[in-house]
Amino acid sequence: MSEISVKNLKNSIGKEVQVNGWVYNIRSIGKIWFVIVRDGSGYVQCVVSKNDVSEKVFALESTLTQESSLKIKGTVQADTRSDSGVEILVTDIEVVHISEEYPIALKDHGVSFLMDNRHLWLRSKKQFAIIKIRQRLIRSIRNFFDDRDFVLVDSPIFTGNAVEGTTTLFETDYFNRSAYLSQSGQLYQEAAAMAFGKTYCFGPCFRAEKSKTRKHLTEFWMVEPEMAYCDIHQNMDIIEEFMSYIIKDVLDNCSDELKILERDVSKLSNISSPFPRISYDEAVDLLHKNNHEFEYGSDFGAPDEEMIAAQFDKPVMVHSWPHETKAFYMKRDKSDKYALGVDVIAPEGYGEIVGGAQREDNYDVLVKRIEDHNLPISAFKWYLDLRKYGSVPHSGFGLGLERMVSWVCGIDHIRQTIPFPRTMGRLEP
Ligand code: 4AD
Ligand code: MG
Repeated sequence: MSEISVKNLKNSIGKEVQVNGWVYNIRSIGKIWFVIVRDGSGYVQCVVSKNDVSEKVFALESTLTQESSLKIKGTVQADTRSDSGVEILVTDIEVVHISEEYPIALKDHGVSFLMDNRHLWLRSKKQFAIIKIRQRLIRSIRNFFDDRDFVLVDSPIFTGNAVEGTTTLFETDYFNRSAYLSQSGQLYQEAAAMAFGKTYCFGPCFRAEKSKTRKHLTEFWMVEPEMAYCDIHQNMDIIEEFMSYIIKDVLDNCSDELKILERDVSKLSNISSPFPRISYDEAVDLLHKNNHEFEYGSDFGAPDEEMIAAQFDKPVMVHSWPHETKAFYMKRDKSDKYALGVDVIAPEGYGEIVGGAQREDNYDVLVKRIEDHNLPISAFKWYLDLRKYGSVPHSGFGLGLERMVSWVCGIDHIRQTIPFPRTMGRLEP
C-alpha cells in the first residue's frame, strides 16, 4: 500500500492506496456515506460502504467533522462524474485528530470574518486555486527571464534610497540611523545591468499606502527586469512578449484552478503581442472623446484607467508622460516635456499592472533631477557612479505580482492574491 497525493490518484486506478488529508465535507445515504477529502493537492470523494469496512470505521460518520484530519485507505476507481476522475472505495480510516467546530462552514461568510481567519481560509477551494495560480505565475516569470539569459541579482530590502517618491516610505531604525524598506529594487538593477547586461530581481516591496483600495497592499511582490543598451521601444517589446508568455503558460498549466474560480478564460486567451501603444496625450484625448472628465497633467485614477482599458481587448501601453507625473529617474524625450515612461493598463478594470521607463543616463541631468525632487544627493552617490563609468541607454520595468494574480484569476480584491496580506489596517494573521 503506497501513500499517495490526491493529484496522482488517476495514475493508480485499481490499486490500494493511502491518502493523508482533512475532511472537506460528509454526506450520507444510509448504508453508504461519502467523505470528500482534501490533501492540499486536490479533492477526492471517498466512499464508505457498510460491507467494506469494520463497524468501528463505519460509525465514524457521526464523529468526523469538517477539517478533522485522517489517513484513509482504499482502492482507487475511475469515476467520470467527479472532477478528479477518480474516487476511493474505503477499506480503513485512521483518525488523526477530530477538529472542533470549524468556523468557516461551506457557505458564504463576510470578507472581514474571512480575513480575520485567513490562516484557516487558505484551506478553502478558491483560495487553494488562487495560491496555485500565484505559484505558477512565479514559476513562469522566472522561466521567462532565466531562459533569455537574464541574470538574477537580488536587490536588498533595507535601503537608504527612496525610489518611488517619499510619501510611501516605511522608515525603520537601523543602528541609530534611518533605513527604508525597499519600494522597488530598480536602482540596484541598474547597477546590476551595467555589470551583467540583462538582469532581474523578484521579491517583496513595501509602500506605506494609506489608500484603502482593491489594488493596494503595503507589502507586495514585484519582478523587475533591467536591460543595458535598451530604449523605451525595446522595453515595450519585452513587456508585451513577457506578459503574453506568462498568461499563456498559466492557461496551459492551470486549467483546473481556473475552472474552480469560474474564470472566463476567453478573456485571457486573446492576450498576445502586439499590444496597443498610445501616448499619454492620446489617452487623454480618448477620455475626453468619451465625455469623461479628466484634468490634463494628472495621473490616471481607477475610473480613468477603466475607461481607457475599455477601448481595447488587450492590455494597453501608455507611454510619453508629462514629466511632472513621473519619477526622478526617467529620461525625457527631445522636447524635454515628456518622460519616457510606460504604464501598462490591464483589461477588465484590473488597472496598472506594469510601470517601466528608459532611465536618465546623463550624469549632470540626473544630478539636477535628484535636486529638483528634493532628494538627498549623498544617498544617490553610488547610483550616480553608474553615469560616470560607461553609462549607456538602459530601460526596465516592474510588474506587480498580486495585480497580475488578481487579473488572471478574475477576482475583485488584491487581498486574496497573497497568502497573508498586509494593508493599512491589517497586520494579523
Ligand atoms: O509603477 P511602479 O511604482 O514602478 C516602480 O516601482 C518601478 N521602479 C519599477 C521598475 O521600473 N523597475 O510599480 C510597478 C508595479 C505597478 O504597476 C503595480 O503593478 C505594482 O508594482 N504595485 C503595487 N501592487 C500592489 N500594491 C501596491 N501598493 C503597489 N504599488 C505598485
Ligand atoms: Mg506606476
